[in-house]
Amino acid sequence: MNGLDNIDLAALKIVRYPDPRLRGPCLKVEGIDDALRALTRRMFELMYVARGVGLAAPQVGLPLRLFVANPAGGPDPDQEAVYISPVVEEQSGQMIEDEGCLSLPGLNCKIKRANVVTLTATDLDGQRFRQTGEELIARIFQHETDHLNGLLIADKMSAVSKMANRRLLKELEERFEAEALP
Ligand code: CO
Repeated sequence: MNGLDNIDLAALKIVRYPDPRLRGPCLKVEGIDDALRALTRRMFELMYVARGVGLAAPQVGLPLRLFVANPAGGPDPDQEAVYISPVVEEQSGQMIEDEGCLSLPGLNCKIKRANVVTLTATDLDGQRFRQTGEELIARIFQHETDHLNGLLIADKMSAVSKMANRRLLKELEERFEAEALP
C-alpha cells in the first residue's frame, strides 16, 4: 500500500547528511496496514539505539510523511507516539536551544523555534488526533515535520554556526562520497 512490501526492515538504517533521500519529496501515507506498523516499530528501535527523541521516515530512506517520537529519550512505551501525515496547525512563542539530528551526527547548534506547537496527525489506528506540545515536544514537532519537507538543521542554523561547523559538514560529505563508491 505504501511500497513497503519488499522492504527488508532489518536492513534499514539511519541515513546521514548529505544523502539525497533526506531531501524528499515525501509522499502521503496511503492507508495504515501491518507493513506500516512494522516500519514504525523498526523506527523506534533505530531511534532508541541512536538515543534520539524523534525519527522521520526519510531518515531511514523512505519517502513517507510520518515520524515517530518519544520525548523520554528511551523505550518508555507510555510516551511513544506515531505521527502520520502531521500538520502544524498553530505555533507561538520563541525559543533558541541546542539541537542535534541523528542524520547529522556530531552537529549540535542553536536553532530558533516556536515554543508551543499544536499538531494534528493520524495514529496507527487511523484516528486523527490533535496534540499541543511545549519546549522539547514542540521542538520535536518542528524538527521532524521539517524532515518531511526535506529540511535539515544544517539549513536552519545561523551563519555563525555554519562557520563553526563547516569542517564537520565537510567531513560528513566526504564520508558519504567515500561510502557511495563501488
Ligand atoms: Co533530524
